[in-house]
Amino acid sequence: MALTCTDLRGTLPLLAQGKVRDVYTLSSNHLLFVATDRISAYDVIMKNGIPNKGKLLTALSEFWFTTVLKDVGPNHFVSSSMDFLPEKLQKYSAQLKGRSMVVKKLQVFPVEAIVRGYLTGSAWVEYKKSGTVHGIQVPEGMVESQAFEKPLFTPSTKAAQGQHDENIHPDKVVQLVGHEYTKKIEELSLALYTRARDYAVERGIIIADTKFEFGLDEDKNVVLVDEILTPDSSRFWLASTYQTGRSQDSYDKQFLRDWLTKNGVKGRPGIVMPDEIILETSKKYHEAYELLTGSEWKET
Ligand SMILES: Nc1ncnc2c1ncn2[C@@H]1O[C@H](COP(=O)(O)OP(=O)(O)O)[C@@H](O)[C@H]1O
Ligand SMILES: [Mg+2]
Repeated sequence: MALTCTDLRGTLPLLAQGKVRDVYTLSSNHLLFVATDRISAYDVIMKNGIPNKGKLLTALSEFWFTTVLKDVGPNHFVSSSMDFLPEKLQKYSAQLKGRSMVVKKLQVFPVEAIVRGYLTGSAWVEYKKSGTVHGIQVPEGMVESQAFEKPLFTPSTKAAQGQHDENIHPDKVVQLVGHEYTKKIEELSLALYTRARDYAVERGIIIADTKFEFGLDEDKNVVLVDEILTPDSSRFWLASTYQTGRSQDSYDKQFLRDWLTKNGVKGRPGIVMPDEIILETSKKYHEAYELLTGSEWKET
C-alpha cells in the first residue's frame, strides 16, 4: 500500500507540505522530514502513489549523506531511526519508519543549486536557441546529451508552491543571497556533483544533472539540506544505453509521462495511475537504489 499523506493527529505541527514530503516541526532546531509515496509529473501530483517510493528516496538520500558525500561539507541529516523519535511518535511507526529523517532546521536559501554535467532538458532548449545555458556562453557545435567539458553551476529560483522555477544566470544569485554565499554554494554544488558523478558512473548510472538546496546554520555555515541525488531531484541515465545526439529516456518517470501524454491528461491534477504504470515506475526506483548503493533493497 502506498502512503500518500501522513496524519500524526496533531502530535507535531505540520510546517510544510511539498509535492513529496510532509515536513513537521520536531523541536526548535529539528524537523521531521517524511517522504510520502506521492509522485508528480509535469508539476502535478497523481492521486495514488508508488508503494515504497518515499522509503527508497529516504534511504538513498541517507546513503549519500552518510557515505559518499559525508566529508564534502556539512549536511542536515541527523537520524532516520525510530529510536531517535520521542515516545509520543512511536505509535505512528507505520507511517514514519523507513521514510522519515530527523534533520537540522535551517534557513533555506531561495535558490535551487542545479549542476549540469550534460546538455539536456531546458538547457538544450536554450542552447539551440541562443548558444547559451542559463545565459552562460558554452562552446559551439555541441549536440544533445553531450557532456560539458566541466560541469556547470546553473541555478534557478525556488518558486513558491504551484509556480515554476525560473532558470537564472549565476550572477543573479548574488543579488539574492550575496557574493560570499553564492561562491560557497557554487563551490559546494560542483564538489558534491563531481564526487557523486564519479561514484555513480562506475555503477552504471550517469548523473546528467541534479539539484541541491542549502541552508544556513546559526554559525553561518552553508549546510546541504533537502533530499539529495534521488531520481526525483536528478536526471539519471543508464550508462549502457547512453548515446549523444538524441534525448535519453528519463530514468524514473518516462512510463508515467508517456502514459499521461497518450491519454491526453498531461498536467491535469488528481489523475489515478493504472497498476502497470505504478509497477514499472516502482521498478525503476528500486533499480536506481540498488545500482547506486550496491545493496539489495530490503523493506523495513
Ligand atoms: N533542513 C531544512 N530546514 C528547513 N527546510 C528544509 C530543510 N531541508 C529541506 N527543506 C524544505 O522542505 C521542503 C521539502 O519538501 P518537498 O516535498 O521536497 O518540497 P517541493 O515540492 O518544494 O520539492 C522543501 O521546500 C525544502 O526547501
Ligand atoms: Mg523537493
